[in-house]
Amino acid sequence: MSPASVTRFLTGITTTGTPHLGNYVGAIRPAVQASRRPGTENFYFLADYHALIKCDEPARIQQSTREIAACWLAAGLDPEKVFFYRQSDITEIPELTWLLTCVTGKGLLNRAHAYKASVDKNVAAGTDPDADVTAGLFMYPVLMAADILMFKAHKIPVGRDQVQHIEMARDIAQSFNHLYGEHFVLPEAALDESVAMLPGLDGRKMSKSYDNIIPLFAPPARIRKQIAGIVTDSRAPGEPKEVAGSALFQIFQAFAGEAETQQLHKAYAEGISWADAKQWLFERIDREIAPMRERHDALINDPAQLEMILRAGAEKARTIATPFTAQLRHAVGLRNLAAQPGPARKEKAAKSALPSFKQYREADGRHYFKLVDAGGRLLAQSCGFASPQEAGRAVAQLKQGDVQAAKASLELADGVSQAELSAALAALAAA
Ligand code: TRP
Repeated sequence: MSPASVTRFLTGITTTGTPHLGNYVGAIRPAVQASRRPGTENFYFLADYHALIKCDEPARIQQSTREIAACWLAAGLDPEKVFFYRQSDITEIPELTWLLTCVTGKGLLNRAHAYKASVDKNVAAGTDPDADVTAGLFMYPVLMAADILMFKAHKIPVGRDQVQHIEMARDIAQSFNHLYGEHFVLPEAALDESVAMLPGLDGRKMSKSYDNIIPLFAPPARIRKQIAGIVTDSRAPGEPKEVAGSALFQIFQAFAGEAETQQLHKAYAEGISWADAKQWLFERIDREIAPMRERHDALINDPAQLEMILRAGAEKARTIATPFTAQLRHAVGLRNLAAQPGPARKEKAAKSALPSFKQYREADGRHYFKLVDAGGRLLAQSCGFASPQEAGRAVAQLKQGDVQAAKASLELADGVSQAELSAALAALAAA
């Protein structure tokens, strides 16, 4: 479909909440800039199926989807140049989720941070470990893998908290590819370290969960009022102020260029009053946001147009998703019964060609095992265990795809990469 030299970027935005300045600086603005890079194809979608995992208020999901779509378009995303769509318009996504579910080790999902955090919280509270944990939360990484794998994305710009999900998408893709042939591209997380974390009103990271946000497109009077609420120290007008640790300064910096930032720095040293500094900040933000506000408000007030843009985006995305899903259905055996069955033996061979563990005892009296691939090549070698039972337990963990355990107990053989080992373990876990 796309020439090999094109790099595909894909990212999803969960549709809960109202976009705020932190989202703008940390995600929207860099993504809109990135979407114009030559040699890339860019996919941005509203992850509304994911929103259902966290939110059971239908009106809020709809409202948030509307606001986020309007924000991205107002910020300059060009739906003609990128793929901009709503996840739930791509009916192939839940279909792919199921195909992936069937090759995903339950043990892999047990280790997902978000799920584990819920379980840990329940355990600490002395309740049932799975209290209030939906299967949706548990399955979250598989749905996300489907989002990514459906479009053969190479790079996934995400925050640190999402990196594990990208690794899981890789593992799941490897399992599927191992069983059914090379259908999926293995995605990688793209962390942008240069994007600064934006502090909120109270100086902590700006986040809906801290209730310290400044909404991106609130009316100017409201933004001004919120900026007035940013925490500062109690230094009086005329007293020099510190830029270090000043949330106000950091927010300013996220919007201003080098020269302007220097000016504010100087003003701090010269004892600008907090009221004046807040006015500077308000004006600087407004200068960037005001030109977008008109387009934003026009879209918010014309939801039918938003709907049309998203549907057109879905149609474009489905020119990829629909034929690819047909290919995948065929690959797993969901086939037209009248069609020629494939070469059964060859298909089976792919499946039985699994790596395997061999346990043995060395002259030092300790128990070892090694992992060899289907062709008998040595992939990795264990450390010594005191008993065969201990060695056996380590093997069992590895067979469930526990890569952490693998790192602790296995040493890679010469010329074998960590990725190869992960692929072999993923294949075993899926088998
Ligand atoms: N889980 C992501 C978040 O909360 C949103 C998301 C859903 C996503 N599907 C994705 C991000 C696919 C990247 C790729 O931020």
